[in-house]
Amino acid sequence: MAWERAGRGSVAGETAHKLRGDYGDMRSDHTVDQDWEAYTADEHELWRRLYRRQESLIARHACDEFNNALADLNFGEGIPRFGAINAKLRPATNWQLVAVPGLVPDLTFFEHLANRRFPVTVWLRDPGEFDYIVEPDIFHDFFGHVPMLFNPVFADYIQAYGRGGIKAHELGAIEMLARLYWYTVEFGLIHTPKGLRAYGAGILSSGGEIPYSVESADPNRIGFDLLRIMQTRYKIDTYQETYFVIRDFGQLFEATAPDFSPYYAQLNGRDTFAPSTVLAGDRVYQRGLAPVRTANGA
Ligand code: PHE
Ligand code: CO
Repeated sequence: MAWERAGRGSVAGETAHKLRGDYGDMRSDHTVDQDWEAYTADEHELWRRLYRRQESLIARHACDEFNNALADLNFGEGIPRFGAINAKLRPATNWQLVAVPGLVPDLTFFEHLANRRFPVTVWLRDPGEFDYIVEPDIFHDFFGHVPMLFNPVFADYIQAYGRGGIKAHELGAIEMLARLYWYTVEFGLIHTPKGLRAYGAGILSSGGEIPYSVESADPNRIGFDLLRIMQTRYKIDTYQETYFVIRDFGQLFEATAPDFSPYYAQLNGRDTFAPSTVLAGDRVYQRGLAPVRTANGA
């Protein structure tokens, strides 16, 4: 994984490289038409290869909520049409996918989420990026995020996050909030009766990080703790050194329900924790043996 979302690395201007994607024809809310007809046969074939590789990994490592939704949707035969998924998503959780050229500004992103619209990038990576991609593409956005939007509690959590983002934007607290997104929506683990499973999209769309996050002895795995997460930095170009583990999606929703304004005030100016840190107060599922890793394959 090598990008940041909802806080840094947006088109607002902190990426090191020029953004991919065609921002020419977008509407004022940064949406575009998917233009499904324009995908080539090679792109559909690359999608099938990406999908098959992930499918073989998720059965044992993704949470049931993800696996069940993915099986129902069955979008492995080629790049899906957003319209077809939207027809299923609307009755399930009243979310909709909207097509975007790539990363969008923070506030735009938050406003879409607050209105139950999930922005999905329209372009697919090149074949040479099978294992590694520097920005979210349609495969990450779709495969990683869409199945979880079918879970009612998680779907509500993402909307609440969007609303919280609009507020954090006003309060200058986006960095703290972005850490929460990173360690939950992108890299979250859940402790299920079957053992640890992944629900984060950054994990689930990555060939290498699925088994690493769930099984490797290298990273730390620590119980979810909201304020702790909001103070914990993260790396964008390696596997994570620490994963945070929730017990269920209700815990995530409830822990994040209070007004964050006093939390931001409390944490403002405090030291942040390095991604590899284990604190005395942590509920440690596993202390990592080698929490520092080299650059990964997304
Ligand atoms: N309750 C948070 C606030 O008042 C909003 C939020 C909800 C943020 C869920 C993240 C996730 O700011
Ligand atoms: Co993502």
